[in-house]
Amino acid sequence: MKFFVDTADVEAIRELNELGMVDGVTTNPSLILKSGRDIIEVTKEICAIVEGPVSAEVVALESEAMIAEGRKLAQIAPNIAIKLPLTWDGLKACKMLSGEGHMVNVTLCFSANQALLAAKAGASFISPFIGRLDDINLDGMELIQDIRTIYDNYGFETEILAASIRTVNHVTEAARIGADVMTAPPEVIAKLAAHPLTDKGLENFLKDWEKTGQKIL
Ligand code: G3P
Repeated sequence: MKFFVDTADVEAIRELNELGMVDGVTTNPSLILKSGRDIIEVTKEICAIVEGPVSAEVVALESEAMIAEGRKLAQIAPNIAIKLPLTWDGLKACKMLSGEGHMVNVTLCFSANQALLAAKAGASFISPFIGRLDDINLDGMELIQDIRTIYDNYGFETEILAASIRTVNHVTEAARIGADVMTAPPEVIAKLAAHPLTDKGLENFLKDWEKTGQKIL
């Protein structure tokens, strides 16, 4: 499973990248707002740090304007994935931009049918939002499973990018189902290493080690 970081916080990306945990980055207008940075500047900086795809989202609503914004974002660096919303205009822009050889990430996906359309429009990535479905008492993981089954049924190569990941259980479940990629905030990725039994075990080992009176270095 590839790990993308869902943030426009350059320092957080740099830190995780040094650990080899970053296969890509996803951003969106809300994350750009949170960063307080200019979209072009911050995206350029991220693209210079990370080798994998960096998603940058358009904000236009009509296909022609989306295509123009997408082309401008793609000029930032060769590893830009143009992020487009799952609307008919977004799909139209997806068809055009993916045909031009750009990576496209179709976002705000909340149904299997939407995912089917994105694959047919040539998307490199489809982003189903797990947490936001859970928020309204629907099952985000069921959607990931449905998309996995449908894509496998027909051999679609669009990668399933499990997004709106809020918990460590979301990561486990998405991996179990076989999502190709998950994108999560740095805080969620940091929690993946934590386990109380690891902490307890380490504490006990260190206590016993002290009793041996030995040193390794
Ligand atoms: O990748 C999409 C993500 O940024 C949305 O997450 O937590 O705002 O639903 P959230």
